[in-house]
Formats: sequence, C-alpha cells, structure tokens
Amino acid sequence: MTQYEQTTQELANNPKHWLITGVAGFIGSNLLETLLKLDQTVVGLDNFATGHQKNLDEVQSLVSAEQWQRFRFIEGDIRKVDDCYKACEGADYVLHQAALGSVPRSLADPIATNETNISGFLNMLVAARDAEVSSFTYAASSSTYGDHPALPKVEDAIGKPLSPYAVTKYVNELYAEVFARSYGFKSVGLRYFNVFGRRQDPDGAYAAVIPKWTAAMIANDDVYINGDGETSRDFCYIDNTVQANILAATSTNTDAKNQVYNVAVGDRTTLNDLFNAIKSALAENDVKYDKEPVYRDFREGDVRHSQADVTKAKNLLGYKPQFDISQGIDKAMPWYVKSLAN
Ligand SMILES: NC(=O)c1ccc[n+]([C@@H]2O[C@H](COP(=O)([O-])OP(=O)(O)OC[C@H]3O[C@@H](n4cnc5c(N)ncnc54)[C@H](O)[C@@H]3O)[C@@H](O)[C@H]2O)c1
Repeated sequence: MTQYEQTTQELANNPKHWLITGVAGFIGSNLLETLLKLDQTVVGLDNFATGHQKNLDEVQSLVSAEQWQRFRFIEGDIRKVDDCYKACEGADYVLHQAALGSVPRSLADPIATNETNISGFLNMLVAARDAEVSSFTYAASSSTYGDHPALPKVEDAIGKPLSPYAVTKYVNELYAEVFARSYGFKSVGLRYFNVFGRRQDPDGAYAAVIPKWTAAMIANDDVYINGDGETSRDFCYIDNTVQANILAATSTNTDAKNQVYNVAVGDRTTLNDLFNAIKSALAENDVKYDKEPVYRDFREGDVRHSQADVTKAKNLLGYKPQFDISQGIDKAMPWYVKSLAN
C-alpha cells in the first residue's frame, strides 16, 4: 500500500476539518472534490477573483448530497484579516491556494499581485497561527528557481526571481520560515510546477498553456507558441498535486515540517512536444486539428527550462506521482471536449 493510499484510508475512517482558500479555482476545487469524496468536513474561502461558481457546482454534481452538506463556502477575501480569522475557525488542516497566479498578470499589475499574494498570505499565516491549526500547507511555485541554471531543480538551490509573481511566492517561503522561527508555527510549502487538468480555466489573457491551447484547438483557432517551442516544463497532472497536499497536511514526520517541496513528475516536455501530445489526445476524442502552430516572440519573465527533482517529497512525504504528462493529458482532454462543446 502506498503512503497516499494509507493516508486517504485513515482520513476516511477519522475525518478532519479542512480549510481550502482559493476553493473556487482550479487546484482548490480539485482539492475540495477529493476531500469531500473522503467524507471530510471542508470550509472554502474565495472571492471569485479568478475562480468560478461553476467549479463549485461541478464538484457538487460529483459528490453525494451528504458529502456536499459537509462543505461550507465563505465568500471572502484573504486581503481582509477578519475573513481569514472566520475561515480558520475550527480547522485542523489549512490548504492555502488563494493567490493571483500568472507571471504576465504580475508584470501588468504588480501591486494587485503583491496585495493578494504577500499581504493576503501574511493575513492567512496570522489567522492560522492564532487558530492553532495542526498544519498549514501553502501553494509555493517553481518560479522561485528564477534564473538558477541547474536542471533538475533541487529545493535549496534557487536563483534571482524573474517576475513580481516569483518575488511574491518567494516571500511566502520567507514568511513561513520566520513564523516557524518566531512563533513555532509549522507549515509546508509546495512548489508546484505547471499543474494541469480538469477545471483549469482556458479563458482570459492569463490562461495557462494547456487549457489555452486545448480551447484553441477545439475552436479550430490558431495556437501560438512563444519562442522556438523548445522551452520545456515539468507538467504535472492535478491528481499528483492533490496527493502532495494531502500528504503534506497530514504528515506526522517532524522532519517533513517547515520545508518546501517540489511537486511535479520529474520529466521535461518541450512546447513543441506538448502541442503534438494535445493534438493527438484530442484526435482520440474526435476533435481533429490540422493547423501548424504560429511561432512568436519569447515571453518576458519566463524561464527557459524547468524540471523538478522530486526526491525530497518522495523521501519525506511519501509522495509518488501517479500520472505522467501523457496519462494526465489523456485524462484531462475528455473533460475539455465536454465542457467546451457547449
Ligand atoms: N496552476 C499552476 O500551474 C500553479 C503553479 C504554481 C503555483 N500555483 C499556485 O497555486 C495556487 C492555485 O492556483 P490555480 O492554478 O488553482 O489558480 P486559480 O486562479 O484557478 O485559483 C486561485 C483561486 O484563488 C482565488 N483568489 C484570488 N485572490 C483571492 C483573494 N484575495 N481572496 C480570496 N480568494 C482569492 C481565486 O478567485 C481563485 O479561485 C495559487 O497560489 C497559484 O499561485 C499554481
């Protein structure tokens, strides 16, 4: 039995109280779905800045009425400390996902990104500390590696940040460390690497590459590749990310606390290969796309290559990614075809 199977079985037998911030977003709503299916009690906080009611509605349709009753939604804002206090009340485990994602968004409006990702994060730390929660797991980011050239990325070798977004995610780690030292507050940071899967938003100027291209191919629009297409990423299917969160939150290994972990697969896929992989997976779902990609300039703030070393999460958390990129794409495409067909 894997560590994750054991943990989910224990949770099902002995349910806990969870808080998910950013619950109406992509990762938050997937955490919600998994936790409700395990009969957990969940409070969710979101201000719908980039999340959607339809994500919550979809989760409701996927769980039983009894499970849905164990969920309480608070429409609120992490920039208001009172909302954070309200949300943290009675929580055993906090999964803090709320943030303004996207490197280009942060370049366009660094103040907004800073307010949510740094001030909002600090509010959440203070509220969770005062509520004496058992654990605080937060969404960190691979962008913290910045200009460090090493591949694969190992947690303790980071470079200079390349965008305001990267600064905010690094500051989260610094605050978490200071809260450990100053108040004995235990937290775990998960440096996500390009997560993808069902409910990741394909719309808007700041959509991530997989949903954006998938939507373009389904609509038979052009697909734009920034640069020569040899830029590479460690694309991580959402179920691996959910696994890492649940393992990190519930870990009883004291060495595993006050750490940051890479959460990815440990592979590297170029944008050119990604284009072909999505195209083939859509063809399996009866969506034919015959256009060639349109190449344009490299995007400011982007790192050229990214690949994680996930040894630390494996050793300390028992993390074992269950899906590689092609398995993840195969699982994600039917959802996109169904949800974008209407
Ligand atoms: N998706 C990825 O590949 C990836 C990679 C690295 C890190 N992350 C981090 O993971 C987390 C979740 O990302 P996601 O992909 O699910 O994005 P998302 O935009 O789908 O979800 C973020 C959620 O946070 C909510 N939110 C934003 N500002 C808020 C505020 N002030 N108060 C309350 N709620 C607020 C949004 O409405 C949204 O529902 C973020 O912290 C993001 O920075 C994501």
